[in-house]
Amino acid sequence: MTTPRQVPLVVDGTAVSVDADGTLLAALREQLDVRAAKAGCSPQGQCGCCTVMIDGQPRVGCVTPVRRLAGREITTIAGLDDEVRRAWGEAFFATGGSQCGYCTPGIIMRFERLRRDGIAPDDPLVARALHAHLCRCTGWQTVLDAYAAYGKAADGRDIAAAEQRALIEGRSPQAVGPNVALGAGNFADESAPSGALVAVPDGQGGWVVAETLPEARQAAGKVQGRRSTVKATPPLELPAGEWTASLRTSWVEPAYLETDASWCEPGGEPRSVLGTGGAFGGKVESRLGEVARRLADEHDRAVRVVLSREDVVRVGPKRPPVAGGAHPGGTGCITVARTAGIAEAIHAVAPHLTVEEVDVVGPPTSAALRAAGWAEAVALLAGARGEVGTVQGPGTGRAEAEVDDGAIRVRVACGDVLDEVVLRSYCIGAAHMGYSWVTSEGIAVGDDGEIHDLTIRSFGVVRATETPRIEIEIDPTPGEPVNGSDAVFAAVAAATWLHRGVPPSWPTDR
Ligand code: FES
Ligand code: FES
Repeated sequence: MTTPRQVPLVVDGTAVSVDADGTLLAALREQLDVRAAKAGCSPQGQCGCCTVMIDGQPRVGCVTPVRRLAGREITTIAGLDDEVRRAWGEAFFATGGSQCGYCTPGIIMRFERLRRDGIAPDDPLVARALHAHLCRCTGWQTVLDAYAAYGKAADGRDIAAAEQRALIEGRSPQAVGPNVALGAGNFADESAPSGALVAVPDGQGGWVVAETLPEARQAAGKVQGRRSTVKATPPLELPAGEWTASLRTSWVEPAYLETDASWCEPGGEPRSVLGTGGAFGGKVESRLGEVARRLADEHDRAVRVVLSREDVVRVGPKRPPVAGGAHPGGTGCITVARTAGIAEAIHAVAPHLTVEEVDVVGPPTSAALRAAGWAEAVALLAGARGEVGTVQGPGTGRAEAEVDDGAIRVRVACGDVLDEVVLRSYCIGAAHMGYSWVTSEGIAVGDDGEIHDLTIRSFGVVRATETPRIEIEIDPTPGEPVNGSDAVFAAVAAATWLHRGVPPSWPTDR
C-alpha cells in the first residue's frame, strides 16, 4: 500500500514504491540500493552515467523527478536479459571500450536502444548517440568498436596480464573483464555498508554528516553547477625574452567520471578512493579516507564520504598552468604554478629550461596528474624545433605521434605488451586526452581564484563525433613492461599543437 508521499514504480521487473520527492537516480541508488545507474554529475544531467530506460527509452535519471513516474517501468543494466547483458559485457571487454567502467552502464543502455532499433554499427547515429555521454578514459573509438562487436565471440585472454597492463597504464589497480563494463567495477561508494552515515563537504572546509545522502546535501546547501561565460584564460604571463615558440596553458580539470568517495568503520581501515584506476592521477592525493576514518571514530558508526561533481571541481587538483618560451636548442624559461614535484618533472625531459615556480591564486594543483609539467615541456620544445620527434617521459616508454586533418597516428614502444586490447585502449584514450586538452579543455577561474565553471560539460572534453580517427601502432619489442600511454598523451599533445600552427595559448580551438 503506497502512502500519498510514495510513488509506485517497476524497477527491473520488481514492483516498488519510493519517496515522491527527489530524482529517479537518487531513488534508485539511495532508497533501493540499485547501484547499476551511476552518478557522475548528478544533478547536472550532462554525463549520461545515470542513463536507464523508462518504458524502453533511454533517459538520464538524475534530472527525472520521481513524481512523474507513477506506474512506469524502469530498466537498469541489471534488468536486461542475462544473454543481452552478457553480450554487451563481452563486447566492451573484447574492444577495450571500458576502462574504469563508470560511464559504461549508461552507454550500454543507450546502445541497447539502438540495437533493438536495428541501427547498423556504421550508422552515424551511433557516434551521435554518445553526445549524451562523457567518457574520460577511452577516447570513444573502442566504445564505438564495442557497438560493432556485440554478439561476436570474444577471444580468450589472460586476465592477470590484462590487469597488469591496466595497472601500469592507469597507475592504480584496475579490474579488467566483462563485469567492469556492466557496472561492477570496484567503486568505493558502492561497497559501503547500508545504514552508514553520509558525510559531504559543508563548503567551508568542514563536513556535514547525516543519515542519508539527500539529507546531507540538503543540510550542506546546494552549490549550483554552472558554466561560465568567462573564457578559460591562461593565468600566467610569459617570461620576458624573445622566443622561437611560446606557450601559455590554463587550469585544466582531470574530469574523471566517478567522483571521489570513501567509507570507514569505527576503528577500521578506510576504503581506498583508488579502486578502479581511471583517475589519471586526479585522486592520488585525496584525503577522503582519512576524513572517513576520523568521522567514523567520532560518530562510532560507519561513515560514507561522498563528493558531488561541484565538490570535485572546487576542491580537486588541477593541472598546473604554465607560461614558457623556448629556442630550438632546448634552452628557454618556463613559469609554472607552484606545485610540489613539478620542476623535477619538467627537468626530466627539458634539462636546459629554467623553471620558475610562482604563487597563483586559484584551485589546488598537482604534479601527480598525467604527465604534468613534462608534457607541457615536451610540447614547448617541439614547438621551438618544429617537430615532435620521439617522446619519452620519466619512467615511460617511447611514443611518436602525427596529427593531420583526418587522423591521429601514434607509434608506441613500452616493453612486453601483456595485453594488446588494454594497451591499445589506454593509448587511444591518451591520444584523445592529449588532443582534447590542447584544443578544447580548460576551466574559467576568476581573479579571486574562484572557479566559474562547475559543470562537467564546461571542462571541454572533445565529443565522439569531433574526435579524429586514432591509429595506434604498437612496437612489440620485448622488455620490462612500462607505461606507454603517458608518452602517447604528451606526443599527441605536442603534435596537435604543431598541427594547429603553434598558437601561443591553449586551448587552441575554444
Ligand atoms: S549523473 Fe545524470 S547525467 Fe550525469
Ligand atoms: S571508462 Fe569511461 S569514464 Fe572511465
